[in-house]
Amino acid sequence: MKKRFSKILLSKILLLVTIFLFSLNIFAKNKTPLLYVGTEAEFAPFEYLENGKVVGFDMDLIDEIAKIIGYDIKVETMKFDGLLPALQAKKLDIVIAGVTVTDERKKFVDFSDTYYVSEQMIVVNKTVDTGIKSFKDFPGKDVGVVLGYTADLVVSEIEGVNIKRYNGTGEAIMALKAKKLDAIVIDSEPAKNYSAQNDDLTVIESDSAKEEYAIVLRKGQDEILKKINDALKTLKENGKYDELIKKYFK
Ligand code: ARG
Repeated sequence: MKKRFSKILLSKILLLVTIFLFSLNIFAKNKTPLLYVGTEAEFAPFEYLENGKVVGFDMDLIDEIAKIIGYDIKVETMKFDGLLPALQAKKLDIVIAGVTVTDERKKFVDFSDTYYVSEQMIVVNKTVDTGIKSFKDFPGKDVGVVLGYTADLVVSEIEGVNIKRYNGTGEAIMALKAKKLDAIVIDSEPAKNYSAQNDDLTVIESDSAKEEYAIVLRKGQDEILKKINDALKTLKENGKYDELIKKYFK
């Protein structure tokens, strides 16, 4: 009698456990994980605002990657120099913002494989004759950079420059247009983009070193890092990456 009773009990428990595991499984399958993506949206054509929405090359790229690795994404914008601290504080899962891979940053965060190669360029106001033709002409000049951008490192290496730091690209451009600066230094694509939109501005091709952009992750996120790198590879192989390059860099 006792034996029979425990048998029934055992099968009931087994049934309950099975149902429980099964429902867990369904639950896991239905819920696409969410990835919090950080960016700063004053960096066209990589990221910029259009009708209140963050768009651009980086946004399309991360959308494609998310599709492949099976994540939904939620984009959060903030000031550029707040992005990596927010990532480390786990307020973000990844950052995609035309971020240049540097040794200094590598001490704190991990980078994916490179997805774009860029360089720093000089933008000047055509209506002012500053005599600036290259970085060599910078000593004694007022040069604008955006806080936390690699341009700051590049310009800081030149002696005798009066560096002015701005909160965003738009602010630096405004100062250049208002003739408060002799030049600004910024990554090549935004440099070309802003001067194309402003008749009074022009780009000077500089001799600065190449920079590589990569997606940023917190250290130790090896599993997702690998997934992202594999997805990047897939997008390069299946033509989607080239499609995006054509869409944003004519
Ligand atoms: N490539 C530069 C850097 O890593 C500037 C990036 C700025 N990106 C942005 N979305 N505002 O410092």
